[in-house]
Amino acid sequence: PALPLLDPFARAITYLRVSVTDRCDLRCVYCMAEDMHFLPKRDLLTLEELDRLCSVFIRRGVRKLRITGGEPLVRRDIMRLFASLSRHLESGALEELTLTTNGTQLARHARDLAACGVRRINVSLDTLLPATFRALTRWGDLSRVLAGIDAAQEAGLAVKINAVALKGVNEDEIPSLMEWAHGRGMDLSLIEVMPLGEIGPARVDQFLPLSLVKARLAERYTLEEIDYRTGGPARYVRVRETGGRLGFITPMTHNFCESCNRVRLTCTGTLYMCLGQEDAADLRAPLRASASDGPVEEAIERAIARKPRGHDFVIDRRRRQPAVGRHMSVTGG
Ligand code: GTP
Ligand code: 5AD
Ligand code: SF4
Repeated sequence: PALPLLDPFARAITYLRVSVTDRCDLRCVYCMAEDMHFLPKRDLLTLEELDRLCSVFIRRGVRKLRITGGEPLVRRDIMRLFASLSRHLESGALEELTLTTNGTQLARHARDLAACGVRRINVSLDTLLPATFRALTRWGDLSRVLAGIDAAQEAGLAVKINAVALKGVNEDEIPSLMEWAHGRGMDLSLIEVMPLGEIGPARVDQFLPLSLVKARLAERYTLEEIDYRTGGPARYVRVRETGGRLGFITPMTHNFCESCNRVRLTCTGTLYMCLGQEDAADLRAPLRASASDGPVEEAIERAIARKPRGHDFVIDRRRRQPAVGRHMSVTGG
């Protein structure tokens, strides 16, 4: 078998995140600008090409595949990609096939996802207040997301809720969001906002350090350190009063790059070695140049060989420019 992919810092790359579209049916204020320009559809890789790229990564040791976007469930026929990738679960080559979704289309797809071997999914949801949800997403309907979560749980999928902690927006709601998630048997991960893409408002006005959130929660709840890892960057505690797990994703206040195991592929075949850096490699050209996978594999190896040590995100008053020009919707977090 081929050697696994190792980066210059001896980190094994076993987790591939694949953004299948840069489009989304919402416009979360921390993620996108109001008037976004999306990629022309002709630039997209086909689902067959995405499958082929994923399969090369799996052959080279990727064990966890997460489909993201934009919103992955708005890509036409996306279930075909899940269905074809599920063969790698059956063969045992892949340990986990999953997705991160905003939940609006989940009610339609939950059963099919489960049938494709998806076991755990992450749903992004920052608030349970309909008016706050509408303002945050610019037009979203909270009840659709809640119906999606219901459907996912009914289909037997484990659901983790991801919430970006936002100053003055959902800050006071975090305990109730947590009680709700835990009450339904779902983990909750809180995320620090990162300076990706120009969004209009200043990041510094949104940023809420999770160290502060954790300290506030610790006044009301007993947070017990636990050794639970999913292969993602969250550090989890068990909340004794609810019995549930609470994760903290802290790119800004507690860097986790040292244990990075992932790279990101976009819907145009661009490979980003780091969420917080501009450097990227084109896999579309070698993919289309040859029916053999050799050139793609070589391009992947060359790219991983220059994976940076980590991001250098900064959020402060003086800095207006985002650290990285592209929006989160290009790489899917
Ligand atoms: P699991 O642990 O498997 O549940 O997934 P995950 O946390 O890796 O994936 P998820 O899509 O839930 O990621 C949640 C958020 O964490 C992303 O949207 C990003 O905001 C952040 N994140 C994930 N990976 C990285 C990373 O490598 N670097 C940084 N800075 N942030 C990341
Ligand atoms: N910083 C942190 N998280 C973000 N997300 C989108 N944009 C940002 C940002 N700038 C989150 C979404 C979703 C995940 C894919 O990334 O809310 O949970
Ligand atoms: Fe890895 Fe880059 Fe994320 Fe750091 S910011 S954990 S190096 S992808």
